[in-house]
Amino acid sequence: MTGAAVRVLQKVRPDVECVQADVGGAALRASKPALPEETRALCDRSDAILFGSVGLPEYDGKPLVERPEYALFLLRRDYELYANLRPVRLLRGLESASSLKPELLEGLDLIVVRELTGGIYFGTPKEQRIASDGIEEAVDTMFYRAPEIERIARVAFELAGNRRNLVTSVDKQNILETSRLWRRVVDRIAPEYPGVRVAHLLVDNAAMQLVRRPAEFDVLLTENMFGDILSDEAAMLTGSIGNLPSASLGTKGEPGKQFGLYEPISGTAPDIAGRGIANPTAAILSAAMLLRHSFADETGATKIENAVERTFADGARTADLATANEKALSSAEFTERVLANL
Ligand code: IPM
Ligand code: MG
Repeated sequence: MTGAAVRVLQKVRPDVECVQADVGGAALRASKPALPEETRALCDRSDAILFGSVGLPEYDGKPLVERPEYALFLLRRDYELYANLRPVRLLRGLESASSLKPELLEGLDLIVVRELTGGIYFGTPKEQRIASDGIEEAVDTMFYRAPEIERIARVAFELAGNRRNLVTSVDKQNILETSRLWRRVVDRIAPEYPGVRVAHLLVDNAAMQLVRRPAEFDVLLTENMFGDILSDEAAMLTGSIGNLPSASLGTKGEPGKQFGLYEPISGTAPDIAGRGIANPTAAILSAAMLLRHSFADETGATKIENAVERTFADGARTADLATANEKALSSAEFTERVLANL
């Protein structure tokens, strides 16, 4: 769906040069590593990365370094893209597509701030092995250092200050040591932002509250894996995981002109690959986030977001969102509608 996003981006900003490179499954199928050197070199000299989705069932049994996902792992790690922003807004007209009752969705406007370069995704040891007693075993390590928590907490507090002034920090401090550190550090940072309220929720409770009172969340701050899980849940509030964009930002660049990676929050959808029916919304909205965070172009970003909203408001639906009596548009038809609405 990146092609759709590039078309939209180029219509709004013909001056932005878009160059394509293989990554993930496309690279592996061409007998290259998941993140080929030439792709990395291109990223090095770019202002931003617009990323497709990764995941191919044919590589499922392989070790991480031989799977498409490894490309994402390397890009996030090596560019230190620690701040993953996943805005969850109800698009006008899509109330009935949500799996929740429309009255629960009124005012839904939250953003998941997911720590992206630490926790159990990156901690070591991380391996499968045969123990000395001959039994197969595996270990992943959830590890955090206070500065990693501080910097992501600051991102959340700053965002909240420009929104509804509420940070809900999600952890599992009744069980996990990393969570106890997480909560302590968040509480230590909080007084620097006196206008912002902090609430703490255990992750199991947060999963429940997200489907019980989703509109009450403003900024949902959490560690890497909890953020991965909760953001898929939050996506369904909007009707489809195909709607949700994300920005992954780090230390490179300055506010508004940060280097970042922009991608749908989901992996690939192998079950519908090649049929031309995927929902391009997440990719298109990722392009909007790219303009906002890497090109300081709020006008361009809003233009794209408004065009997508208008497209839905006019009744256009892709297959994932269409109900039995609604006609489903192909990815290409939907994209044409968005282009026309720009
Ligand atoms: C996401 C995705 C990735 C993740 C996968 C594709 C590795 O699920 O960005 O949420 O787990 O981070
Ligand atoms: Mg995920």
